[in-house]
Amino acid sequence: MNAFASGAGRAPVALLGCLLSLAIVAPGPALGDVKGLSKMDFGKTKDGETVDLYTLQNGRITVKVATYGATVVSIEVPDRDGKVDDVALGFDSLEGYLGEHPYFGATVGRVANRIAKGKFTLDGEEYSLAINNPPNSLHGGRKGFNRVIWKARPFQAADGPAVEMTYTSPHGEEGYPGKLDVSVTFTVTADDALKIEYTATTDKATPINLSNHSYFNLGGRTDASILDHELTLVASRYTPVDDTLIPTGEIAPVAGTPLDFTRPTAVGARIDKMTGDPGGYDHNFVLDGRPGASATVHDPKTGRVLEMTTTEPGVQFYSGNFLDGSNVGKAGVTYKKHHGLCLEAQHFPDSIHHPNFPNAVLRPGETYRQTTVYKFSAR
Ligand code: BGC
Repeated sequence: MNAFASGAGRAPVALLGCLLSLAIVAPGPALGDVKGLSKMDFGKTKDGETVDLYTLQNGRITVKVATYGATVVSIEVPDRDGKVDDVALGFDSLEGYLGEHPYFGATVGRVANRIAKGKFTLDGEEYSLAINNPPNSLHGGRKGFNRVIWKARPFQAADGPAVEMTYTSPHGEEGYPGKLDVSVTFTVTADDALKIEYTATTDKATPINLSNHSYFNLGGRTDASILDHELTLVASRYTPVDDTLIPTGEIAPVAGTPLDFTRPTAVGARIDKMTGDPGGYDHNFVLDGRPGASATVHDPKTGRVLEMTTTEPGVQFYSGNFLDGSNVGKAGVTYKKHHGLCLEAQHFPDSIHHPNFPNAVLRPGETYRQTTVYKFSAR
C-alpha cells in the first residue's frame, strides 16, 4: 500500500494536485516576465552563502519566501476594512532567522515533530538522531531542513506566481537513512491562498514528515496574543502525549475535553485547563478527512480568516506555549507566550514507533506528496 495515500477521500485531491503540477513544470519565463513575482537579495549566512527572498503576490495578498530554510518570511493580507498587515511571526532581516528561534515560517524535516529518544529501527537497522529537544529529537535534528539553503526556481503556475525550492539531503544527514530529494513549491493563488506542495523521493527507506512551521497572528504586527482567535478543527480525535510530548499511541476522542474545537471556540476559552509546563495546546489532531477546510481561524477584531486544507491525516495545533519573550520580531514586537499559533499539517508525531498510526516511511520507488493550502479572507 502506498505509504502516503492517507485517506480515500483525499486521493482525488492528491491526483488533481499531481496533474496540476505536471501541467506546470514546463520551463517558466524569465523572472521579470512572471506577473506577481520578484526576487531580492536577503543577505548572507555566516558561511558566506547568499540567501534570496522571493515575493509572490496577486494584488491582494503578498507572501515572501527565503531560500534559507525554505522559510515563509511574511504573509500580508487585508482585514475587513482592507487594511493590509503581516500575519506571520518572524523577523525583518535574515539575521533574525540565522539566530536562535523556534522555527518561524520554516520548512521542517526530514521528520517534523518528535521522534522518541532520537532512536528508531527500520528494516532491521538501528538509527540514532540528535537529541535536540531532550530526551527526544525534534524537527529533523540540529541542522534540519530549516537551516539549509534551498535552490529556487520561480515560475508561473497555472493558478499564480510560484517558486519551487529543492534540496538534496544526503544519506546519513542528521542520522537519517537514504539520499532524499525534496521539492517544496509555494504558490500564491488567484483565490488568495498560499499553497504549499511537497514531493520527495529516496534511495533507501526513511521516515519522512514535512511541514511548514508558520506562526500566525491574524491581528498582524501587534502586541496582542492569539487567545481571542476563534478556532475550528474538523477533528473528533487527537493523539494524547506523555510529559515529553511523545504520543502514548492512543487515539482519543476530543469530546468532553478542552481539545474539542469541532465548533468555533476562542483559543483562550479553556486554555487554563491545559495544565502542565508550559501548558496550552501542543497536540496532533486527527483530521476527520471531510472535504473542505480542516482548520479555520477567525480573528474577531480584524475579521481576518485563515482556512487550512490539507492532504495530511493530522495537524499539530500549537498555541505558541514556549514563546518566552526571547525573540524580538518584526516591527520590534516581543514574541511572548501565545503570541502566535501554528497549524502544522503532518503525519502523526513519532509515527515510526506506532504501527497503528498512518505509515510515514518512504521507500525507494515511491513518491512522497503532501499539499497544504492556507487561504485568507475577512468578514
Ligand atoms: C512543537 C512544539 C515546539 C515547537 C517549536 C511545535 O511543532 O509541537 O512542541 O515547541 O514546534 O519547536
